[in-house]
Amino acid sequence: MVKRVVSDLACFGGKALFHSVKPIGQLSLPNIERFYEISLEILTSRRFTNNGPVVHELEQRLCQTHAVEHCITFANASVAIISVLDTLAKHKSGEVIMPAFTYIGLPHLAKWASQTPRFCDVDPATHVIDPERVNAAIGESTSCILAVHQVNAPCNIERLQQIAKENDIPLVFDSVHAIFASYLGKPFGSFGACEIFSLHATKILNGFEGGYVTTNDSNLASALRTKRNFGFTDEGHTASIGINGKLNEVHAAMALACLDDIPSILDRNKRRVAHYADAFANIPGIRWVAYSEVSMMPNYEFALLHLSEDWPLSRNDVVRIIRIENALARGYYEHTDQLAKYFSKDFCAHDLPVTCRLAREFIQMPVGELVSNDDIERLAELFLFIYRNASEIKRRLDQSQNVN
Ligand SMILES: Cc1ncc(COP(=O)(O)O)c(C=O)c1O
Repeated sequence: MVKRVVSDLACFGGKALFHSVKPIGQLSLPNIERFYEISLEILTSRRFTNNGPVVHELEQRLCQTHAVEHCITFANASVAIISVLDTLAKHKSGEVIMPAFTYIGLPHLAKWASQTPRFCDVDPATHVIDPERVNAAIGESTSCILAVHQVNAPCNIERLQQIAKENDIPLVFDSVHAIFASYLGKPFGSFGACEIFSLHATKILNGFEGGYVTTNDSNLASALRTKRNFGFTDEGHTASIGINGKLNEVHAAMALACLDDIPSILDRNKRRVAHYADAFANIPGIRWVAYSEVSMMPNYEFALLHLSEDWPLSRNDVVRIIRIENALARGYYEHTDQLAKYFSKDFCAHDLPVTCRLAREFIQMPVGELVSNDDIERLAELFLFIYRNASEIKRRLDQSQNVN
């Protein structure tokens, strides 16, 4: 039994359920032998960075995996997105249409590319940007549409493509959470003008840090290669405003040494998500965000839990309690209801009722290589304990809040 009485909860002074933290990121290890082998070659050759052979090999492998002509790696997905927006924007300081319910760092990237984010609400069932809202938000100053695939569902790709074409606006996909997933049998990577992926350690392909853009547009690929290298051409001339956005060789080695394991990572993710559903099956008022398996083959990166409205404790209280038990769950995209506050209401194409509701609903549960089936069963026991003892827990939480 994980807890016997309410004072066993770590938030009331008991021992934490987990000795070491249970995170929400993938944190996969590479094939260590392979990583050492490539790293030794890097050290021996002293070719540490500047578009070296390991970056080159990684880019080629990723082109094959995504069935696309060009892959341009970057130091992280953020610099990649800034570079893409800077290259494709129709106006020098226009607007980038993007979903409101997504990674809270995204609007900053538009600002770094001298653009203004323009938030659109999302579909309540799939959580992806609503194409009709996008259509309505297009105006004279629209520079680009930045659509984001959700882990559980793809954007409405066809309708967005149609809208982008009719209005002659570039369409870019942030596919960070669709990495190694596929849409109608085709891997993500070649939709829209380009797609962007992350190699952050918490993502499915671990390069410590890193990111990449995939595209079939040779002109865009060449402009991005120049941009990530200070704007220098191969001859050393400055062709455009650039940045140091290069991926280094060791980070590329890490990603290369992880790449062969991707099918088993996806398989473990799928099993983990299924195990969560089984282990929590007899706890009242729990639902899991379903993965759309009709058009998409997902990567099962997250386990997203929903508490029914009549659950006896709030989402935020539950997150607070289990984090102190070292289960580092968090509210899924929880601060997106504050966008109007951070970025001024003028940036919202319209009110964002769906985003504001969704931002309060889900718990992003611990996942990744550090979460075992046994951990999931212990979490289920903990949730059942919290459910059964909710009124006493709430009374004690209220009491401690009053004292503080
Ligand atoms: C949807 C999305 N886009 C972009 C990023 C930025 O990725 P990076 O950390 O590689 O800059 C993230 C990071 O979590 C993300 O979730």
